[in-house]
Amino acid sequence: MAATIALSNQKGGVGKTTSAYVLASVFKSKGYRVLAVDMDPQGNLSFSMGAETDGCATIYDVLKGELKPKYAVQKSSLVDLIPSNILLSSIELEFTGARREFLLKMALDSLKPYYDYIFIDSPPALGILTVNAFTAADYILMPMLSDIFSLQGIMQLNETIERVRSYCNPDIKVLGAFLTKHNPRTRFSREVEGTLNMVAADLDFPVMNAYIRESVALREAQSLQKSVLEYAPACNAVKDYEKLADELFQRGLEANG
Ligand SMILES: Nc1ncnc2c1ncn2[C@@H]1O[C@H](COP(=O)(O)OP(=O)(O)OP(=O)(O)O)[C@@H](O)[C@H]1O
Ligand SMILES: [Mg+2]
Repeated sequence: MAATIALSNQKGGVGKTTSAYVLASVFKSKGYRVLAVDMDPQGNLSFSMGAETDGCATIYDVLKGELKPKYAVQKSSLVDLIPSNILLSSIELEFTGARREFLLKMALDSLKPYYDYIFIDSPPALGILTVNAFTAADYILMPMLSDIFSLQGIMQLNETIERVRSYCNPDIKVLGAFLTKHNPRTRFSREVEGTLNMVAADLDFPVMNAYIRESVALREAQSLQKSVLEYAPACNAVKDYEKLADELFQRGLEANG
């Protein structure tokens, strides 16, 4: 049975999509069966994985209950994917029924026997899509930049996590936060890192020792719709995400088994 990890931060551009894809690829390279789920109407994860998104089955059809989840999975030799596209943005208005927070959880439960890990990419917002991601997830992992708005984002995110914990998913675990596009050599970055450690201690989640450095190869791979593990396997970002994956296991990530 798969363990499900949601990458989330309502602050935009902090590396949610990039981290979902590269972590999923790193886990795949370790021999695990991995599914990625795009829960962002922007469809960035689907694009970077080179998936089809127009005129094909997406997570939107699944959440609407019009398609069995397995028929929305695009298989690949790398990571399997349930794609999304802009249609998903109408979900806030379309889904008003009771238990609308549980739609993704119900969908993924039927796929869990076939995977070891499921990574969910979530949108930069705290609406129903993110609540669905948290309700379906066993773990939350929060990428962030070393800037003050990201810290503010983490505090707002924590309120949503607490609400989901109370009403929808009492077992959800916060794996922690980690810094992306990080340069620990600047004084400002170090200061924000210090503040982050204080906020994290206060909110009771860990900050990963591993952080992700700025990487041009990563951006290039994304624009070419290639996996960075194939495009530039020796680049800093791949090494950093591998370290992060190891740390997640050290900090208690396990397959639900
Ligand atoms: N380690 C890195 N080095 C260089 N560029 C990066 C790195 N990580 C992410 N980026 C770039 O930063 C931008 C934002 O990353 P990404 O799309 O993963 O963030 P996001 O949090 O998913 O954004 P959104 O909130 O819009 O969904 C992208 O252009 C991506 O290529
Ligand atoms: Mg994104």
